[in-house]
Amino acid sequence: MADQANGLPEHVPYHLAVIMDGNGRWAKARNLPRLAGHRAGVENLRRILRACSEFGIKILTIYAFSTENWGRPEAEVRGLMNILESVIDRELNQLHANGVQLRHIGELSGLSPVLQQKVRRAIELTRNNDQLILNVAFNYGGRQELIQAFRRIVKDGIPPEEIDETLIDYYLYTAGQPDPDLIVRTAGEMRLSNFLLWQCSYAEYYSTPVYWPDFDREELLKAITNYAQRERRFGLVPQSS
Ligand code: IPE
Ligand code: IPE
Ligand code: MG
Repeated sequence: MADQANGLPEHVPYHLAVIMDGNGRWAKARNLPRLAGHRAGVENLRRILRACSEFGIKILTIYAFSTENWGRPEAEVRGLMNILESVIDRELNQLHANGVQLRHIGELSGLSPVLQQKVRRAIELTRNNDQLILNVAFNYGGRQELIQAFRRIVKDGIPPEEIDETLIDYYLYTAGQPDPDLIVRTAGEMRLSNFLLWQCSYAEYYSTPVYWPDFDREELLKAITNYAQRERRFGLVPQSS
């Protein structure tokens, strides 16, 4: 798609999802502890939020902590929990002032009571904001999300013939939101790592070797420019034929 006068592609993703990977390798390359990489990753999030608003992206979903990440060394897990807590303390008012609606996807119950309380408060405070929805995937697993959906569907006594895509969507953490248009993964891996398994069925993928702390506005612009050149066919024949 041709670039417009403002240098932005004509079609930007409405819903962007990011697998923020490479914090550890970023730190290692600088002889820093892994947690320094995670802190740099959080700093970067601020830049990316600003860029998303500038580019007109309406929903940003970030993969911050997976159900598998509990298996990391205890000190790293604790550090990541502390980082989430201090980000909420430090950034919540500014996010709110910027019209960001915070949401959490994943299992809150796995987190400490204090952290759960902070996340709930942040969600409540920002619930009516409409500039940008920020879904934070924390203690999130795509399989876990499907398991909790199926359990609730059974518990609610839904008859089998009423189970369709719309109903399953309704039972997911992302209920009511459109599926991601573009999935960006930083740090070069070519896998989903249990991220949004149901919602990504027709998402476009973009992988870059750039580590997450270095993934800035220009890198995001490259990703969405690349996205704008894709033809999304959804199983149909190309428009040109
Ligand atoms: C991503 O960075 C952040 C989390 C998974 C919490 P990593 O910590 O996975 O960084 P690498 O992959 O080891 O470089
Ligand atoms: C995916 O990154 C999870 C997050 C970014 C939170 P990982 O670093 O945990 O994924 P793998 O281990 O490379 O698949
Ligand atoms: Mg990683």
